[in-house]
Amino acid sequence: MLDKVKSAAQQVGLWLKKPERLLDLTGILLAAYLVYVTWSFMGPLDLLHVILAGIFIFSALKIVYELTVNRINVPTLASGFFERRKMVEIVQRHAPRTLIDLGSGRGELTRHIARALPQAQVMGIENRLFPYLQAKVYQRLFGPKNLEYRQDDFFSYDCSAADAVVLYLNTKVAERAGEKLRRELKPGTLVVSNRFALGGDWAPAEILQMLFKAKLFVYYQNPKVFAD
Ligand SMILES: C[S@@+](CC[C@H](N)C(=O)[O-])C[C@H]1O[C@@H](n2cnc3c(N)ncnc32)[C@H](O)[C@@H]1O
Repeated sequence: MLDKVKSAAQQVGLWLKKPERLLDLTGILLAAYLVYVTWSFMGPLDLLHVILAGIFIFSALKIVYELTVNRINVPTLASGFFERRKMVEIVQRHAPRTLIDLGSGRGELTRHIARALPQAQVMGIENRLFPYLQAKVYQRLFGPKNLEYRQDDFFSYDCSAADAVVLYLNTKVAERAGEKLRRELKPGTLVVSNRFALGGDWAPAEILQMLFKAKLFVYYQNPKVFAD
């Protein structure tokens, strides 16, 4: 019995040691706190309180979902301010006519790129419905006109027409995406990956160090590999 308790305690200790588990725990505690705050807010049920409670509970559940169940998927986080600014600067220098964002989320990055490159056609591919719809509705309302979105799995989209590709995914998906891009892209195509190195035999032309150990990986498709 004592052994069982010891081994359970060890398991909990190991679990807590992993930084991502601590993040889970923080998320769950934060969510519980939001639910508690909501609960104490409620008092007599009127419409405003119901709406506030709805928003709080939705946010709490979303945090728990993103930090636990959805850990294996790519979150819909947008590239940070400094990374986005640098990515826009890099693609501007390359002056592509066609640019694709693989996993465009709610579209922040694509909007900035499309505005900075009015002569280019920019496309965001996003497989999840809500971020896709948010990006699409925003584009319909506020432009720019040289930007479009597609709801699709980018692994089944042929990227060979692109002159530049940007992406911000996770380690595993960026590895797979790299292999796909290596096979498909034409020589000289620029690829900028936020945070995660591409898989396949890509050699980065540049690795830019950003704040908080973040990195931008800059690649160019090489004619030799394309010819193979
Ligand atoms: C971290 S967000 C990046 C958003 C945007 N590119 C940026 O940098 O601001 C990554 C997005 O990629 C999407 N995604 C992941 N895998 C995908 C796939 N196979 N096809 C299409 N979208 C995908 C996720 O749903 C998520 O919204």
